[in-house]
Amino acid sequence: MQLMEPFATYLDFKSGTLTPGTTVIQRRLSHMRGMYLDTAAYNRIMQEEGDRLIYEVYTVDLAEEAGQVLHCTTILYPGKVGDEFHMTKGHYHALRNRGEVYLGLEGQGYLLLQLEDGTVRSVPMQPGTAAYVPPYWAHRTVNVGDTPFIFFAAWPGDSGHDYGTIERMGFAKLMIERDGQPVLVENPRYRSG
Ligand SMILES: [Fe+2]
Repeated sequence: MQLMEPFATYLDFKSGTLTPGTTVIQRRLSHMRGMYLDTAAYNRIMQEEGDRLIYEVYTVDLAEEAGQVLHCTTILYPGKVGDEFHMTKGHYHALRNRGEVYLGLEGQGYLLLQLEDGTVRSVPMQPGTAAYVPPYWAHRTVNVGDTPFIFFAAWPGDSGHDYGTIERMGFAKLMIERDGQPVLVENPRYRSG
């Protein structure tokens, strides 16, 4: 590993931006085609409103290698697709035995976690919540409030990302709004294995 100079970036606690020296990605509704349960609602939004911005990620530019500690902020905008709250795509780490730390900064959300056998857990997050993603758990966040849900994350540099497993199989449970409250329900489309 190359010796590096220490450096710092600036995290704006209110907006969630992390600058400079970061790469920003935007995830729009079309990037999540097939991930929300209500396909009719997806199509309606795309036709009537356009390709809605769901979330943005600011990742500090570091080599993805063992020894580094990668870190980012995520700004997950409020809204629903049908009854299902806005969420991130979610992923396993390519190296499954790598964990992650999340720190809630703004808004109200949930961290959803899943093992490959379909076991799902949820952890409520608000400003100040330091949530731990243990090794082997896939992780996705959900915004259940009406303001942006913003959090910081840090994970080992050699973790890698496996988005494909979640894209193919989904999460076994979904976070939907029912009678004005967020509830976790079985995903009828979940396919294990
Ligand atoms: Fe991760």
